[in-house]
Amino acid sequence: MKFTADRLLLFGATGDLSQRMLLPSLCALDADELLDPALRIIGTARSEMSDAQFQDFAREALEKFLPADRRGGMASFLKRLSYQTLDATTLDGFDALAEKVGEPSKGLAIFLSTAPSLFEPTIAGLQHAGLATGNVRIGLEKPLGTDLGSSQEINDAVASAFSEDRIFRIDHYLGKETVQNLLALRFANILFEPLWNAAHIDHVQITVAETVGLEGRVAFYDDAGALRDMVQNHMLQLLALVAMEPPGSFDATAVRDEKVKVLRSLRKVEESQTVTGQYRAGAIGGKAVPGYDEELGKASTTETFVAIKAHVDNWRWKGVPFYLRTGKRLPERVTEIVVQFRCVPHSIFADKGAKMTPNRLVIGIQPKENISLSLMAKVPGLDREGIRLRSVPLDIAMPDAFTGTHRRIAYERLLLDLIEGDQTLFVRRDEVEAQWEWIDAIRALWDAQSLEPKTYTSGSWGPSASIALAERDGVTWHE
Ligand code: BG6
Repeated sequence: MKFTADRLLLFGATGDLSQRMLLPSLCALDADELLDPALRIIGTARSEMSDAQFQDFAREALEKFLPADRRGGMASFLKRLSYQTLDATTLDGFDALAEKVGEPSKGLAIFLSTAPSLFEPTIAGLQHAGLATGNVRIGLEKPLGTDLGSSQEINDAVASAFSEDRIFRIDHYLGKETVQNLLALRFANILFEPLWNAAHIDHVQITVAETVGLEGRVAFYDDAGALRDMVQNHMLQLLALVAMEPPGSFDATAVRDEKVKVLRSLRKVEESQTVTGQYRAGAIGGKAVPGYDEELGKASTTETFVAIKAHVDNWRWKGVPFYLRTGKRLPERVTEIVVQFRCVPHSIFADKGAKMTPNRLVIGIQPKENISLSLMAKVPGLDREGIRLRSVPLDIAMPDAFTGTHRRIAYERLLLDLIEGDQTLFVRRDEVEAQWEWIDAIRALWDAQSLEPKTYTSGSWGPSASIALAERDGVTWHE
């Protein structure tokens, strides 16, 4: 029977994610009449607040983070909200919480957006108050641990109360429209799949560049670093979607079975195939910004940039490098996947002096949502001195192709799927563990060498060693 929730219990309801993403997403879904009219949303956190105060808190968040044209149903949305103060480290408050939640007539969806140290006591509290049994699903926000061991501990604690088919691990990149579009591009078109392999693809680049720095997340980020914060989850999910075999259908088991095979085929990386960096003061968009150590208030060896040359050791990808890079305080915010095809096997134009550029597919995830395929074309002319060819882009800007649709926050999709019980865009335990295993091996390499990140100026594309990492193979990062 299809799951649907008429209660949504939000842990960490007064936190940053809740204000920026969760409450705005829920309100936007409500405005589009996508929420069950009976759905009640119960926020909980440590702060003392009444229902009315939580509604005021939510109103402020919506006014700040939800575009005005999507706030239509705000007044009725706020009426869905109530609040229960809770110290999740003790069992005491959970009975009152259960009372506040009441008896859902359809189902209960729980969303944990709290510090990972609260996961285990929260699960214990939910069990104690009878909130973990019956028609209940649980969504878990990252970070789910800091390495394989700690992620297993969290997963074990959650598994003691919830079976895997009731657990929804969030990677918000999977909620992004353009990330899902990657699957449409690959599996709803006949054009690409026959070429999507080592015989025709030279290499793949995945870039997730950010202009922001620490954004006040001092303690969290300095413990995590770019490898754990971005590569372990978002970048490996993107890589898995690019590299996976076609699933039999677009359902949770089929899609995740294929992704996990890729993650398990990742070759152990050697130290020479990684570059780490930490930003120093510089300027972004003409505005001066401080260095990481200044933002942090102390010296640190945490990496804010990482580049990795990865390989997927299977038949399809034998010998094809996947260059990954991500960093903070880079010159622009851009997430994109570049698929670089090989050269034609023989150029019939060579003796006419024409230079060939191999085809390249660029999939823009954000902020530009576009797909651009570079093709060789003849430069118009009579070619009396030899034929001239040039690479020209075949460019599709998604917003132009789909006018009249609005951009959704990734969490709209994910919260709706949690409420409706669809796990396709959530990460399964075996995926997370395969991701950690690969990441832990990289960290172990760095630790063994006591590797310190190279510095880079804010507003540059990271340490020059990252450029060299690609250039050694004759590859240039796409910019
Ligand atoms: C989060 C990271 O998971 O993703 C942040 O913790 C990062 O450090 C963010 O800024 C990037 O998300 P987006 O959607 O802005 O690309």
